[in-house]
Amino acid sequence: MDSIIVRGNGPLKGQIPIAGAKNACLTLMPATLLSEEPLTLTNAPRLSDIKTMAALLESLGAEVTSLQDGKVLAMSSHDLTSSHADYDIVRKMRASNLVLGPLLARTGHAEVSLPGGCAIGARPMDLHIFGLEKLGAEIELREGYLHAKAPRGLKGAEIDLAFASVGATENILMAATLARGSTVIRNAAREPEIVDLATCLRAMGAQIEGDGTSEIVVQGVDRLHGATHPVVADRIELGTYMLAPAFCGGEVECLGGRLDLVGAFVEKLHDAGIDVEETKAGLKVARRNGRVKAVDITTQPFPGFPTDLQAQMMALLSTAEGTSVLEEKIFENRFMHAPELMRMGAEIEVHGGTATVRGVDRLRGAPVMATDLRASVSLILAGLAAEGETVVSRVYHLDRGYERVEEKLGNVGAHIERVRET
Ligand code: EPZ
Repeated sequence: MDSIIVRGNGPLKGQIPIAGAKNACLTLMPATLLSEEPLTLTNAPRLSDIKTMAALLESLGAEVTSLQDGKVLAMSSHDLTSSHADYDIVRKMRASNLVLGPLLARTGHAEVSLPGGCAIGARPMDLHIFGLEKLGAEIELREGYLHAKAPRGLKGAEIDLAFASVGATENILMAATLARGSTVIRNAAREPEIVDLATCLRAMGAQIEGDGTSEIVVQGVDRLHGATHPVVADRIELGTYMLAPAFCGGEVECLGGRLDLVGAFVEKLHDAGIDVEETKAGLKVARRNGRVKAVDITTQPFPGFPTDLQAQMMALLSTAEGTSVLEEKIFENRFMHAPELMRMGAEIEVHGGTATVRGVDRLRGAPVMATDLRASVSLILAGLAAEGETVVSRVYHLDRGYERVEEKLGNVGAHIERVRET
């Protein structure tokens, strides 16, 4: 398993290109199952999760061709040969469950493993099941697999989600595009990835309105045709790299960054003393002067503060002037980065879903361990601000969601290198 070594850094300077969004691509790829015609995605990120999703789609009979060094994914699901999404793939990547809705809509049956828990929480699928059953699917849990069928096809329905689940909204939205009649999804997730999926589905001929709001209306159609769609910029990668100059000073321009993708996050950066400026090429970020200020954070569904940026913010606030309180409202166990930051000298107290962070003058480098995707990158950022050397192990988590992180940070002056374990 590779490790990444980071040394305490002087000011950063330069530009970081922001890739296509992992969490958009992971729902756009299963959309190919909805049509017999080819779907091509451009601006795709080069990540291990994308390779995992490609392998899953191929196991169902789809063809996925990666072009232009992985930035273009040419997919075709003309001849599907299976509707079985195996536990071995789903347990490694929960987003595999996003083949459930499309398979049901296209073939009338699906056998998808429940993902099982992951580091950050139980990750149940009750809302996915609720919505798809409303559309007429019959779903039964047997030996860890969801056995779903819709022998008479799917029928539009009114669906009120108890929680604005991103994945449930995506599964239901994709299924509804081929259901007979109209579907209304209330308390739908409003994330930019939902808007990107709806935009792609419309390009394929779907009739969808209201994406980006909490009420989405879909008029079912008989079939969808092929399309070519550019994956939206990754707002979580964007937010992560916007924080980098806040850790060790300097100024970084995130190419392709858009303010509308990171609204609530930018408000918190301003409160912490970090300037964000829109440029023609993206978003330029600089730390106003000296230490950042303590701020309180509560994670919420979009447009609130994203849970996927909570770990990175905690790392920054570990060196802030003052005490910050972070409330994690989306996942039940998403503070595993706290004990690792404490090994670097951070002063953090965790009680249930609340973490209190007392800022210290300086963190000290240490060997630390990544536990999930976003926790791992928060440790790398902390290493930029720490005195001495930080060695982050188990970086396979990192490679799931961050394209060539040592290259992108190294290009703006970070002392960072990857040590390949033989
Ligand atoms: C998506 O996960 C993202 N993953 C996550 O990003 C992100 O953290 C999350 O949305 C919230 O924004 C992808 O898009 C591939 P949810 P998802 O359904 O769809 C509970 C990353 O780091 N819930 O909105 O699984 C669930 O347990 C990953 O890139 C139910 O109770 O998120 C969680 O507590 C991590 N029942 C909360 O809702 C359900 O049926 C949010 O889940 C579904 C979810």
